[in-house]
Amino acid sequence: MLIKIKVLLGIAVIVLTAGIKAYGQAAPAKAGKITSFIPGAIWPDNNGVHINAHGGGIIYDKGKYYWFGEHKIEGTTGNLAMVGVHCYSSADLYNWKDEGIALKVDDDTDSEIAKGCILERPKVIYNKKTAKYVMWFHLELKGQSYNAARAGVAISDNVTGPYQFIRSYRPNAGFMSYYPPGTADSDKVDCSKPKTNAGNFFCRDMGGGQMARDMTVFVDDNGKAYHIFSSEENKTLDIAELTDDYTGHTGKFARVYAGHSTEAPAIFKFHGIYYLIGSGTTGWAPNAARWLSATNIYGPYTYHGNPCVGPRSNITFGGQSTYVLPVHGRQGEFIFMADKWNSDNAIDGRYIWLPVQFSKNGIKIKWLDKWVLNKFSSYTRPTL
Ligand code: GAL
Repeated sequence: MLIKIKVLLGIAVIVLTAGIKAYGQAAPAKAGKITSFIPGAIWPDNNGVHINAHGGGIIYDKGKYYWFGEHKIEGTTGNLAMVGVHCYSSADLYNWKDEGIALKVDDDTDSEIAKGCILERPKVIYNKKTAKYVMWFHLELKGQSYNAARAGVAISDNVTGPYQFIRSYRPNAGFMSYYPPGTADSDKVDCSKPKTNAGNFFCRDMGGGQMARDMTVFVDDNGKAYHIFSSEENKTLDIAELTDDYTGHTGKFARVYAGHSTEAPAIFKFHGIYYLIGSGTTGWAPNAARWLSATNIYGPYTYHGNPCVGPRSNITFGGQSTYVLPVHGRQGEFIFMADKWNSDNAIDGRYIWLPVQFSKNGIKIKWLDKWVLNKFSSYTRPTL
């Protein structure tokens, strides 16, 4: 009898293990204190479940970090928004507590954020004047693939949510681009000759607003916030000023690195210089990162090539940028955050976090199998 039970149990274990493998999802790991970053590995939350916050961004608020990202489910359906935006909190950046779904997709099929839409790259910023947390994201309407190209916005009184969806739209309808001093004439749009200059898509979309896909948001030292997004069929990046309450666009924006198809924008500022990191456009497949810098948020930006160095730097070590996180209270310590997508089994996407290193020629990102925050000074030497 005992032997029979043992055999049956054995079979059950084999079947279960095979099931997990066939499913392709990482089994929950044992929860324990995490003391280092291991780029690309399963990253268990406080429940031992791999963190589910892809295309994410982080806000520091009252002593804690809050990580927001796309909640993915298993399989290719996971590339659609079936659940919403997931939030996690942490005091040390290694150990993350599941705070639940901050913004839920809507069961109402008429909603702009209906379950099954595409809701990507959510980022949260805090508005001191209104005391609201403001979440921006890239939204594609259900059943319309990537054609809508809208920016979506939601707000909350609490950092972890629930966030209330406000609206989605294509930004800056009817506005011409702002050109900071020093912009090359070839980068300027002339809608009287839209077919013969770089402004073809721009002029086409003037009336209804500019396309808004991969995105981030950034709050400058003076409290002004900006929405940075891939526009014009992803050919251009727009850096657009947000209104004082951060929930709309003012109409002032610049076109950055026009014609070079930059996605996955991430921006940070150090010693008066804006560092912009992005990727090329190859869908879920990784490509080489690129970085640009400027002394004015609107540019003009100087292109510097690939910040990644060493093996697999031509494919950003298998990842795609999503955010650069300034470590709170630490001068010159910035973490490059990237997604290692798994489009066949979206929930199994991994996170690649690496320190941004400074050299006299600018920034560098090097692969590390494992690293710790308190060794930051050995990874990075800000000399600017
Ligand atoms: C990537 C983009 C992702 C997602 C994907 C869809 O280029 O960065 O956020 O939109 O394309 O193929």
